[in-house]
Amino acid sequence: MASTSPTDIASGHWSDFWRHGSLTTFFAGKYQHGYDGPVAEFWADVFDSLPLSATLVDLATGNGAIPYLAAQAADRRQAQWRIIGVDYADIQVPTDPAVRAQMSQVELLPNTRMEQTGLDGDSVDLVTSHFGFEYGDIEQVVAEVDRLLKPAGTLALVMHHPDSAVVRQAKRDYQQTRMCLDQERLDRKVTRLVKLVGHARTPYQRDQLRHNPDAEKLRHQINRSMERLLQKVRGQEDDSQMFRVAQSFLRVFADLIDRPLEEKLDFIRQSSASLSAYAGRMESMARATMSQDQFDQFLGLLEGIGLKCEQSGLLQTADGELIGRSLVAFRP
Ligand SMILES: C[S@@+](CC[C@H](N)C(=O)[O-])C[C@H]1O[C@@H](n2cnc3c(N)ncnc32)[C@H](O)[C@@H]1O
Repeated sequence: MASTSPTDIASGHWSDFWRHGSLTTFFAGKYQHGYDGPVAEFWADVFDSLPLSATLVDLATGNGAIPYLAAQAADRRQAQWRIIGVDYADIQVPTDPAVRAQMSQVELLPNTRMEQTGLDGDSVDLVTSHFGFEYGDIEQVVAEVDRLLKPAGTLALVMHHPDSAVVRQAKRDYQQTRMCLDQERLDRKVTRLVKLVGHARTPYQRDQLRHNPDAEKLRHQINRSMERLLQKVRGQEDDSQMFRVAQSFLRVFADLIDRPLEEKLDFIRQSSASLSAYAGRMESMARATMSQDQFDQFLGLLEGIGLKCEQSGLLQTADGELIGRSLVAFRP
């Protein structure tokens, strides 16, 4: 049997996310419907400096949030741009009809590693990446940018910063999810209990099982797990992921209580798989984040391929929340 490589597992985690049709990495909350505020302003400035005929490539594009902004800018400027997005996951144009219409000219290339895009060399005016470049093998991606960019080409990036709210939350969510699944094995404990009592669908049947000693033991184990989890998250900046995970399994004893046994077991399996994929994505985000030293070395690599840094700074929301690093470099 062929073994699955860590890269395949990681791209599978992202495919699991992108198939839900979201535009950005943020399924809920602030950027759910696209990047706005200082992020959108940064990209608008980048796109405004392009000539009216140009080729853009967005690396690690996801479902194309940055190509979407580029397509809007092209319309605004009445420009003829070839806009391409590559990603090693199984990406697709988002489900929102208005977004789809705006992206009709965008070419999304799924299952394509940014280290080896397969695109023609010396063919690209602007390479972009938003929370993407740093997920790859940096030296190989820099070499690919060197190969792709035309002599006067530009590279523009928004990258994770270790102190940003997004990265801090990713680390917490990763830890809390793994604590529930790997350390406390909540999914397995709940599965075992459901197998014992989950066929009871009427109050009378449930009452009959109330004093089943095996079920009692499992209930006790789940309660002990919850107590340990509560202790571990005590004092953390945000403990909500732990509660989300626990609540998602415990739904089989609440709003799914009247459903057939197989449906409950299926629900636990699916929840567990999707929580694991989420933890995998959060882990890859935390790992991708460069420390200041790594970022300085990265700037050295860009210099090595003849790119001159025009702008490098921190991107913040209007109320001072750190979003990430931004960088624009070009070939003089
Ligand atoms: C945090 S998401 C960002 C997606 C998008 N740029 C956005 O802002 O919505 C990171 C993306 O990097 C992709 N990715 C990670 N490693 C990659 C690689 N080596 N080659 C291509 N894509 C990669 C993942 O599949 C994922 O879609």
